[in-house]
Amino acid sequence: MKKTVEEHAARFDEHAADYDEDQDSEEYAACASLVIEFADPGPEDTVLDLGCGTGAIALALAPDAERVVGRDISEGMLEQAREKAQAHGITNAEFGDGRFRDPQYGSEVDIVTSNFAMHHLANEEKREAIAVIGSLNPRKFVLGDVMFFGLPDPDEPFYSPDVDDPATVGTLVEAFTEAGFAITHARRVHDQVGVLVGERLDGR
Ligand SMILES: C[S@@+](CC[C@H](N)C(=O)[O-])C[C@H]1O[C@@H](n2cnc3c(N)ncnc32)[C@H](O)[C@@H]1O
Repeated sequence: MKKTVEEHAARFDEHAADYDEDQDSEEYAACASLVIEFADPGPEDTVLDLGCGTGAIALALAPDAERVVGRDISEGMLEQAREKAQAHGITNAEFGDGRFRDPQYGSEVDIVTSNFAMHHLANEEKREAIAVIGSLNPRKFVLGDVMFFGLPDPDEPFYSPDVDDPATVGTLVEAFTEAGFAITHARRVHDQVGVLVGERLDGR
């Protein structure tokens, strides 16, 4: 991790009010759409969205799911998510404090999602986070994120070495596999952005 959890939280607190407006890239929109499409919850599913930010993924999935739970380290981002839920009359979404390696979530979960957030963790921390997600026993984990399909290039968008620490696709695939997920889809959105879908090997 290039910055501490507290530093990341403070950075996102500061930008929370403008965050949605600033997400104007085609790649961010494409990545979020793929995460939503692959998550595809049913009316009895609980979805846990980690690094939920202002709720882009959780709020889009809420109408199709029984319940969505968002976890993030930035109270400013969480507050935006809660306000958006209220403004849209979404009553089956709950947003609270939690981090990847300690999501503060103890109930059953069917689908875990995460979009554009895990790349803040160092590779070893990502492995731990994916193992924690595996231990929650969801049937599916959908990760959209900054990830390297080729060689890292800080001159290309989505990778700022001072705050980001993305993994190669290979490292992530390995971590999914170690956590008990079979990769069922891998989509490249950009050379530095993609979506991986892991499903339980036991067919849950
Ligand atoms: C770029 S935003 C993405 C937000 C949202 N998922 C989206 O698609 O718009 C990254 C989010 O990850 C959160 N974050 C960073 N490190 C985290 C960690 N260790 N655990 C949980 N959330 C974290 C930040 O607070 C921020 O809200």
